[in-house]
Amino acid sequence: MIAITINGIRTEVERGTTILKAAAALNIKIPTLCNHELLEPYGACRLCLVEIVEGDKRTITTSCNYPVTRPLVVETNSAAAVKARRMVLELLLGRCNTSETINRLAAEHGLAESRFSLNYDDCILCGQCERVCREVVGAHAITFANRGVERVVMPPFDEADQCIGCGACVYVCPTGAIQIQEDGEQKIIDRWSRVLELKHCKSCGVEIAPAFQCDYLARQAGLEPDFFDLCRDCRVARR
Ligand code: SF4
Ligand code: FES
Repeated sequence: MIAITINGIRTEVERGTTILKAAAALNIKIPTLCNHELLEPYGACRLCLVEIVEGDKRTITTSCNYPVTRPLVVETNSAAAVKARRMVLELLLGRCNTSETINRLAAEHGLAESRFSLNYDDCILCGQCERVCREVVGAHAITFANRGVERVVMPPFDEADQCIGCGACVYVCPTGAIQIQEDGEQKIIDRWSRVLELKHCKSCGVEIAPAFQCDYLARQAGLEPDFFDLCRDCRVARR
């Protein structure tokens, strides 16, 4: 166990615990965008900045991917930490000024508008969609493309035919930049223009999932190709 003092409150955490988790255990909230329990910390959004105080030395660092490996004194709301987070938010607001999440976080930091006007879209390029699709789902349907201000997340070669429509990217996206529409017949992931026909139970007609996703899961799990012809309830009833 290693001692850590956050905002004057001393505690002990297991070696390797991140500052963000240590703070959460003390009910100290640090704003985050790209931190998700499904994924390893990546440090992409830079919003979770805090200040580490070591004698006269003060260091601003991201808390989500900073493991506690020695005794630390951390300030989450020091003037320098708040100023750094406000700058991150101002840049994000300049880029994603239609995102409700970014606007809410900016307002919580006293920012009504940004001096920057980048006006791209609501994507902060955190890469969570790409990582969950590759690392958790295994579909590899999203990738980064281009460089600099042209950098985007998109399907490989702009062809969304690997997307199974699971919605994991929608679930982890912190800004709402990916949306799903469903009308009972089709599922549409708007950002990738992916349209998938929905499969319905051959017995009771209840909606199951996109047919492409059913085929993918049956293959991955070594199930019979017709395994998802029936919904779970009808499968159980026929046993
Ligand atoms: S679409 Fe969402 S999850 Fe993907 S990189 Fe952009 S903000 Fe992150
Ligand atoms: S939450 Fe730490 S960098 Fe995004």
